[in-house]
Amino acid sequence: MYEYIKTNKYFAQVTGSLEKYAIEEIKNIGAEVLNEVPRGIRFQCNQETLYRLLYTSRIIQRILAPLLSLQCHSEKYLYNQAYSNIEWTNLFSLNDTFSIITNVSNSHIKHSLYAGQILKDAICDQFRDKYGSRPNFTTKNGDIVFNLHINKNWATISLDISGTSMHKRGYRTQANTAPMQETLAATIIQLSNWTGQKRLIDPMCGSGTLLCEGLMKYCNIPAGYLRSNSALAFLPDFNLKIWETVKQTENNKIIELPDNLIYGSDINEDCIEITKNNLSNLPYGNQVQLKISRFQDLKEQNNSIIVTNPPYGLRIGKTENINKTYNDLGDFLKQKCKQSEAYILCGKAELVPELRLRASWKKTLKNADIETKLAKIIIR
Ligand SMILES: C[S@@+](CC[C@H](N)C(=O)[O-])C[C@H]1O[C@@H](n2cnc3c(N)ncnc32)[C@H](O)[C@@H]1O
Repeated sequence: MYEYIKTNKYFAQVTGSLEKYAIEEIKNIGAEVLNEVPRGIRFQCNQETLYRLLYTSRIIQRILAPLLSLQCHSEKYLYNQAYSNIEWTNLFSLNDTFSIITNVSNSHIKHSLYAGQILKDAICDQFRDKYGSRPNFTTKNGDIVFNLHINKNWATISLDISGTSMHKRGYRTQANTAPMQETLAATIIQLSNWTGQKRLIDPMCGSGTLLCEGLMKYCNIPAGYLRSNSALAFLPDFNLKIWETVKQTENNKIIELPDNLIYGSDINEDCIEITKNNLSNLPYGNQVQLKISRFQDLKEQNNSIIVTNPPYGLRIGKTENINKTYNDLGDFLKQKCKQSEAYILCGKAELVPELRLRASWKKTLKNADIETKLAKIIIR
C-alpha cells in the first residue's frame, strides 16, 4: 500500500524564508503540522483537508504524497525497492508522460541526475515487464510528476499532487522584467493584516502581483481557482465527490470587490497594460483602479495600506537612481500617506534606511534567490 494512505502524512514544499507563514496557513486550513525542515513542512490531515490545502493555500509551492520511504545506501537498492514496492502501473497509464524532480544531499548516492535516472528505469522496467511497453519520460511538466528526495541516505519517493508549482496561479499571463513570486506577494498581503478596512495601494505595481494577491485575498478567491489541479486525480484513492464539494464550498465564499478598494499605479505604461490583463483573468479584477503615474506625482493617499516593491537595484535599475527612488518614496509616504501603514519590500537591507522613516519591524524574505527586507512603516 502506498505510504501516504497508511499514514495520512504529506509534505509541503515552500520557498525558503516563508516556512513559518506556511505553518500558520496549514494550521488555519485544518491540518496538523508535524515538523518543519528548511523549505518544507510535514503535516497530517484527512482527504478533505488535503484537497482544501491544494485548492486554497496561497503560500505552499508543492504538496507531495509519499509513496515509499526507505534507508537507501546504493543505487541498486533504490532500483530494487522502487521496482518491487511501488505499483507504478496502478498510478498512471502508458498514455501519460511522467517526470521526476530529484534532490539528493549528504548521502552515499551523490548525483541527483543519476538517482532520477535509476528511478526512471525502475518505473519504465515495471511497465515494460507488465505491458511490453514503457510510458514516455519528459524532463519537465509531465502529466504526472514524481519527487525523489534523498537526505542522509533516507529516500522518499512521492507523488507531486500539485503537478505544476502552486505559485503559478494562472492569472499572470504576462510579466514585466522583475515580477515577484505570487507566494511571496500573498505572504506580504498576509503580513499587512489587510482585510479591506482601508484602501490597498501599490504605487509601483509592475505586473500587478501584489494587487492580484490582494484582490484574491479580499474576495476569497481560492489560490487554485484558475489552475487545472489535474495532478490530484492521479492519487489512487482520489475522491471526485470530496474534491467537487471542497471546490464548491470555497467558490461559494467568493465576494465582490467594492469600487475604489484596490488601486495600482506605475510609471511604465506597459506595466499598467500587463497589470490590467493579469487582473482581468480574475473575478472582479476589472474593478481594480489603475493609473500610469510616477508615485511622486500621485495625489494624497491618506488612510491607506501601501504594499509595494520598488526597483531592486540588483536586477533592474542603477544604484544611484535606486537610492533616490527610496528617498522619494519615504517623502511620498510621509507627506501624502498620513494615517497609513506601508509594507515596503526593499531589494536589500541597505535600502531600508534610504526611506528615512522608522520601521516598526523588518523581516527577511526571499524573492527567488534575492534576500530582501520587508519593512513595516506606520505613518501618523
Ligand atoms: C520591482 S518592480 C515591481 C514588481 C511587481 N511587484 C511585480 O510583481 O511585478 C518595480 C516597479 O517600479 C516601477 N517604478 C520605478 N520607479 C517608479 C516611480 N518613480 N514611480 C512609479 N513606478 C516606478 C517600475 O516601472 C517597476 O514596474
